[in-house]
Amino acid sequence: MNLLVVGGSGFIGSRLAARLCALGHNVLVPTRHYESAKHLLVLPTAAIAEADVHDEAELARLMRDQDAVVNLVGILKGGEGEPYGAGFARAHVELPQKIARAAQRAGVPRLLHMSALQAHARAPSGYLRSKAAGEAAAFAVAPSLAVTVFRPSVVFGRGDAFLTLFARLLKFLPAMPLACPQALFQPVWVADVAAAFAASLTRHESFGRAYDLCGPRRYTLRELVAYAGRVSGHARPLLGLPTTLSYLQA
Ligand SMILES: NC(=O)c1ccc[n+]([C@@H]2O[C@H](COP(=O)([O-])OP(=O)(O)OC[C@H]3O[C@@H](n4cnc5c(N)ncnc54)[C@H](OP(=O)(O)O)[C@@H]3O)[C@@H](O)[C@H]2O)c1
Repeated sequence: MNLLVVGGSGFIGSRLAARLCALGHNVLVPTRHYESAKHLLVLPTAAIAEADVHDEAELARLMRDQDAVVNLVGILKGGEGEPYGAGFARAHVELPQKIARAAQRAGVPRLLHMSALQAHARAPSGYLRSKAAGEAAAFAVAPSLAVTVFRPSVVFGRGDAFLTLFARLLKFLPAMPLACPQALFQPVWVADVAAAFAASLTRHESFGRAYDLCGPRRYTLRELVAYAGRVSGHARPLLGLPTTLSYLQA
């Protein structure tokens, strides 16, 4: 298949692009900066294109001859506002709208859309509220476009911004003050996320559905940070912070 993977240069996208190429697909990854995607060029059937995916004319060009489009674009800081900040509106809501419409116009039959676990209109963060609106925008063009939405928990793997970040911090800190140490996580491995996307491409039963993606076990934050310390060789004392100090640290 010919696949357009928007947001394919990032942590999850790079893993997904590798998997899709290994399955024999052709992958086109648009990027804002060639430099941030050039690591993908070692993949034999991957191509990158510097493009502004927010520009509808450019999106139309990118959609040409594609069999499916994957949208992985996501940001963590989108500003303040109700129901979400302007940055979130642009990246998580308007862009999925443009991608879905462009796919429909170009006759691309399939869209895989990345959301996040617990995305909901009344969720406690602008990130999650905007992710919920993005899902709705992606589904809005059905049935002419077969849409599947994925909602992963926090994703871990080589190059992540979660366990790897804690491992790095532990290297330099004699002890780690930890906000909300009892917070629960059910992390999912990046390769499993990539496998779910790749498997759903042609699976009809996934059309029109949304899937939560979680690993097999729940852990407290304290357990996860202790694990990152142990396996990176920098086990340190972890000092759990009470709620007020947790907010201050955040
Ligand atoms: N990582 C997690 O734990 C996790 C958990 C749940 C859901 N997710 C979701 O999964 C998706 C991928 O996450 P990730 O961790 O792989 O993120 P990432 O490494 O930050 O990659 C994000 C990608 O989106 C592109 N991008 C970012 N801002 C953009 C903008 N304003 N306009 C156009 N493109 C933009 C970047 O492309 P260029 O810089 O090359 O242009 C990059 O390829 C996101 O939607 C995220 O919300 C992630």
